[in-house]
Amino acid sequence: MTRDEYIKLCHELWEHNKRYYIECSPLISDFEFDCLMQKLIQIEETYPHWIEKFSPTQRVGESLTDGFKSVAHNSPMLSLPNTYSDEEISDFTKRAEKNLDGAKPEYCLELKMDGTAISVIYERGYFSHAVTRGNGLMGDDVTLNIKTINEIPLKLSIENPPEILEVRGEVFLELKNFEKLNKGRDDDGLPIWANPRNAAAGSLKLINPKEAAARHLKVVFYAMAQGPFDQIQTQYEVHQYLKLLGLPTLCEIALCKEEKEIWTFRDRIRKLREKLPFEIDGVVIKVNNLSSQSQMGATSKIPRWATAYKFAPEQGITQIREIIINVGRTGALTPVAILEPVKVAGSTISRVTLHNQDEIERKDIRIGDTVIIEKGGDVIPKVVSVILKERADHCAPWKIPTHCPSCESRVVKQEGEVASRCPNEECPEKIYRHLTFFVSKEAIDIDHLGLKVMKQLMDKKYIQRPSDIYRLTEKELLSLEGFKAKSAQKLLESIEKSKRVTLSRFIMALDIRYVGKTTADDLAFHAKDIWDLTQKSIQELIEIEGIGEKVAVSIYEHFQDDFNIGEIKAMLELGLNPQKAKKVLEHFYNGKVFVLTGSLLGYTRDEAASLIKERGGKISSSVSKKTDFLLTGESPGSKYDKAQKLNVAILSEDQFANDL
Ligand code: IVH
Repeated sequence: MTRDEYIKLCHELWEHNKRYYIECSPLISDFEFDCLMQKLIQIEETYPHWIEKFSPTQRVGESLTDGFKSVAHNSPMLSLPNTYSDEEISDFTKRAEKNLDGAKPEYCLELKMDGTAISVIYERGYFSHAVTRGNGLMGDDVTLNIKTINEIPLKLSIENPPEILEVRGEVFLELKNFEKLNKGRDDDGLPIWANPRNAAAGSLKLINPKEAAARHLKVVFYAMAQGPFDQIQTQYEVHQYLKLLGLPTLCEIALCKEEKEIWTFRDRIRKLREKLPFEIDGVVIKVNNLSSQSQMGATSKIPRWATAYKFAPEQGITQIREIIINVGRTGALTPVAILEPVKVAGSTISRVTLHNQDEIERKDIRIGDTVIIEKGGDVIPKVVSVILKERADHCAPWKIPTHCPSCESRVVKQEGEVASRCPNEECPEKIYRHLTFFVSKEAIDIDHLGLKVMKQLMDKKYIQRPSDIYRLTEKELLSLEGFKAKSAQKLLESIEKSKRVTLSRFIMALDIRYVGKTTADDLAFHAKDIWDLTQKSIQELIEIEGIGEKVAVSIYEHFQDDFNIGEIKAMLELGLNPQKAKKVLEHFYNGKVFVLTGSLLGYTRDEAASLIKERGGKISSSVSKKTDFLLTGESPGSKYDKAQKLNVAILSEDQFANDL
């Protein structure tokens, strides 16, 4: 391995990264990408002095200790004038013509991204730092968090980059990631973000870049503040140039001359809006020619050469009939407003979550109130505000109940949490939610056992805990409303089928706090079987990749509970037999840690690594107590001595070939 080969590998990884994240057309599989990344990590561990600051391993750094540094912008970060009215757009085009001595300018039409503005500086082609807009003159240095964004090249893909390049754009969260983030926060009793924009801005202010990386922020650039202006004449060319540099740019850019084309663009984008995976709040109209832009100038806050047409969020006015309480699986009490049905953005809305008491107090929402409901894109509908003048005199402030509406236990509110919770483990509503989750597609996946059937089975006390599902008899099923021999048979068959669930789904079904699908997969991968998992100490759990302390403690505590262990035992006795995923079961390399040394004759290192990984093995770059096998080729290095010292099994190439 030479230094040049190392650098080539860094570039290769970036190209794949770009194809995946920016162009959405990957050339290689995730697995192949992981292997390349693993190879790079190995090289960097062997030759730490080679590490390039643009290496893809350098994205996630250490936490900031002294907060964010305030940095002055080289030129002010302007805002945009904006309007909801067609007339004001016409005024804008008229003014532009007047300012440009009567000549009709060309316009560059763009999406107005609904995120938070960022300025990113590249020095001699390398990512240098990133600053928030702040007050337009000074912003916060959020370099570490911006660096975690996969679309951001750490090195520009151009031979002769400008000395200094400053690009400006928008950091945002895709809707699916926003919803995932909020769901996790809601489950954890943390306040949820009101919209993706706030969530993106908040994410930039995280002290720990690892947390920022987990948010999967995205960015697009729409402006150049410093760069080779001698080679670029128009805003449209700015986009093309940024693209050439490997930077993520806006989609759906259009050029036009006539005002009516602005409306056509706006109407098309308004329709497209619902289908976009991120939020936009309008379109931006910019005079295309950069020298015309200079001629028109700017005030201290906004340019005269650009304006935004904002889409009014789709709203509806309706009344709150009542506020009901939903008791979740974790016991969290969530207030839900039941509305007079109202049509907003194409769908009829009859209920909307009010999240928690704090949120209700903040908006002062009361039963009987007339409220404005808003629905933007894919986002869940929300109450924007109360129309106070419509409020009836007798209408009292609303308070979350002090007792669980299902079991009447006194609710508790833990410090730092916004949700009130029912602490009663026997709470029927909690059990119902838990059972319906247990049988859901995400978990054990039992067909023909829907919400209504579950309710009946619970009412008749046939099911009180998950293991009871495996005790159900045909006779019991036939006693349910609407059940005939055939439907009973179908359900019993589904239950039987579910006994061959994967270990990962079974772990998921146990409903351990903070354990979602990814964690369940990780646990299933690292545990021999369910009993092995129940025996793990907090320390052993933390050692599993992807498991942090909070999650480890939660898993550990779950298995300390006799009831939980009793349930697992009962289910296994009743025939439930969670299986590790097939690939993993088949080979004894599964779960074993391999280190490679020396040169192999029949395989490249990559090939050998892939073969091991395909069989469930893991590749590590250095020998430690955790290493299971050292795969040894010709002229092995110091790793061989270390492996012998630590009693690590040595695997020759021939043995390896035989094992496969
Ligand atoms: S240009 C000199 N273009 O909207 C003009 N801004 O409301 C600088 N924004 O602060 C901005 N999409 O954060 C521009 N295509 C786009 C945009 C855009 C979203 C944001 C930007 C700006 C805010 C103003």
